[in-house]
Amino acid sequence: MIGWLIALLAAGALLYWLLILTEGAYLGRRVVTWLYDRAAPLYDRIKGYEPEYEFHFLGRPLSRALATIPDPLLLDVATGTGRLPHVLLEQTGFRGTVVGVDLSRRMLAQAAAVTAPWAGRIVLLWQDATVLPFPDDTFDAVACLEALEFMPHPDRTLREMVRVLRAGGTLLTTNRVGEDARWMPGRTCPSDEFERKLRALSLEMIRVQPWQEDYDLVWATKPGVLRPPRRPRRWDELLRCPRCGSPVTRQARSLTCAQGHTFPIAEDGIVELTR
Ligand SMILES: C[S@@+](CC[C@H](N)C(=O)[O-])C[C@H]1O[C@@H](n2cnc3c(N)ncnc32)[C@H](O)[C@@H]1O
Repeated sequence: MIGWLIALLAAGALLYWLLILTEGAYLGRRVVTWLYDRAAPLYDRIKGYEPEYEFHFLGRPLSRALATIPDPLLLDVATGTGRLPHVLLEQTGFRGTVVGVDLSRRMLAQAAAVTAPWAGRIVLLWQDATVLPFPDDTFDAVACLEALEFMPHPDRTLREMVRVLRAGGTLLTTNRVGEDARWMPGRTCPSDEFERKLRALSLEMIRVQPWQEDYDLVWATKPGVLRPPRRPRRWDELLRCPRCGSPVTRQARSLTCAQGHTFPIAEDGIVELTR
């Protein structure tokens, strides 16, 4: 009897660790996505972001980092319910476009609703962040908040983020710290190790900023000078087919690549690259 009770408790603890504490991170991207799909309608209410903090820590500094570029382009990896696009698009000093990528379709639906007032300046892609479907040196800034540890290969995603960042561009990400980080071996690392990883990717001016109880904000720059681009950049001209890497052309409600792969643009404007 006692043996059964211990086995039951152990199974309960294991499930709690796998599904609640680590949000499915060790069970693969399908489970992570399924959990975020379920949580999407309540996500912002659970998180309870303070607009003042969002402005102070995210919106204003990012907008300032991009101030010298006319019509800047920012990529938000694992954009979720559109927290970062929202606070950035609210900045009067920011006149650019945000591309958000996420693998949870329902999180993206929330993001589309929240950012609807800026519909012409936000693009939401339903896509796994492990491979970012853009050429090298595309974005003036790349962000990824509270998400790297849920990716199957956080280091690979980080490399992809640096690849698509332009020389002189800003990388903004988070490193999970505190008690919770200890429950995610192999997915989180101490601050100094995280900095070493960024330096190994040739990033410079790395700055770790204490932010929330369980996350530091980490800022870094790709070596070089961020120059204004030579011509206007349209997101659909920049996008590459996630299946074969070739450029895509846009029709009213879909995108098609040279090899004939077609991706729908849904009613809510989300580009369904994983469909
Ligand atoms: C904790 S939320 C953070 C969302 C947003 N960055 C924020 O700060 O509110 C983590 C997000 O990562 C997304 N995600 C997890 N694995 C992913 C993957 N492989 N590709 C793209 N998005 C992923 C989830 O769907 C979820 O929206």
